[in-house]
Amino acid sequence: MGKIICISSQKGGVGKTITAVNLSTALAIAEKKTLLLDMDFQGHATGAITAEGKKGEKGIYDALTRTIPVAETIKGSEIEYLKLIPADIRLLGVEHDLRSHNDREHILDRLLNDIRKEFDFIIIDSPPSFSFLSVNGIIAADFLVLPLQCEYFALESLGQFFTVFRGLKKKYKARTEIGGILLNMFDPHEALSVRIAGEVMKSFNGMVYRSVIPRCRGIKESACHGKSIILTDISSDGSKGFISLAREIIGTMYCNEE
Ligand SMILES: Nc1ncnc2c1ncn2[C@@H]1O[C@H](COP(=O)(O)OP(=O)(O)OP(=O)(O)O)[C@@H](O)[C@H]1O
Ligand SMILES: [Mg+2]
Repeated sequence: MGKIICISSQKGGVGKTITAVNLSTALAIAEKKTLLLDMDFQGHATGAITAEGKKGEKGIYDALTRTIPVAETIKGSEIEYLKLIPADIRLLGVEHDLRSHNDREHILDRLLNDIRKEFDFIIIDSPPSFSFLSVNGIIAADFLVLPLQCEYFALESLGQFFTVFRGLKKKYKARTEIGGILLNMFDPHEALSVRIAGEVMKSFNGMVYRSVIPRCRGIKESACHGKSIILTDISSDGSKGFISLAREIIGTMYCNEE
C-alpha cells in the first residue's frame, strides 16, 4: 500500500508546492512509484511538472465531482516513475459544487483508496489555510510534512497548526500523523534564519527532519520552467536537500515496516 503524504501549512508561500514537486521527483528518481496530486486551484504543482498546462485536461476536480474515475485523471511525466493528477481553477468552486454531498471531508480519502496500491508514495500539494481542499488532503494522508520558513512567527504558526490539526483529527477520526517539520529557505549566513531554526529544533525536538532546504535561486527558476531543480541542477544544494529528505522519508518507511 502506498504511503500518502500531504504537504501542509496554513501559511502561504512557505514552500508547500516546491516541497511537493521536488520531494516527488526525488522519490521517483529513486525508482519509487510516485503520484503527485495537485489539490490547489492555483495549479502551481501542475505547472511545475508540465510547463505548458493543457486546456480542457481532466484533473482532480473531475474525480472529486465523480465525472470520471480518479484513475483516468492520472497523467505521465518526463520521469518514468512520476505521475501527476493535475489541478485547475475549477477547484475554486468545488466546495460549492459538493455542498449537498454527505461526509465531504472524506471524499479524497475514499478516492485515493482506489489507487494507492498502484504507488509507493502519493504526495499531495495543498493550498494555504484550512479550506475544504486542505482538510480533504490532511484527512486522506497517512502523515504530514510541514514546511516552515525560518522567519518571525514561525513558532506561533506551528503552534496554531497543531491546535487545529488535533481538532480535525478528532472530529473526523483521521489516522493522520505528523511526519515532520521541514526547515525551508534556510540561510546559514542570516542570523534570524539560524536563530529561528534553533528555536524550532528546541521546541519541537524529534519532530524536525534532519534534512534542511536552503534558500536557493535555482529552485525558483527551475519551477518557472516546469521542472524540478533535481532535473536542472542535481549537484545544487537545493537538490541535495530534497534528495536527503526523500532518503529520510524512505528510511522511516522501512524502519516502520520492520
Ligand atoms: N528553498 C527555496 N529557495 C528559494 N526559493 C524558494 C524556496 N522554497 C520556495 N521558494 C520560492 O518561494 C515562493 C513560495 O514557494 P511555494 O509556491 O512553494 O509556496 P507555497 O507554500 O506552495 O505557497 P501557496 O501557499 O501560495 O501555495 C515561490 O516563488 C518559490 O519558488
Ligand atoms: Mg503552493
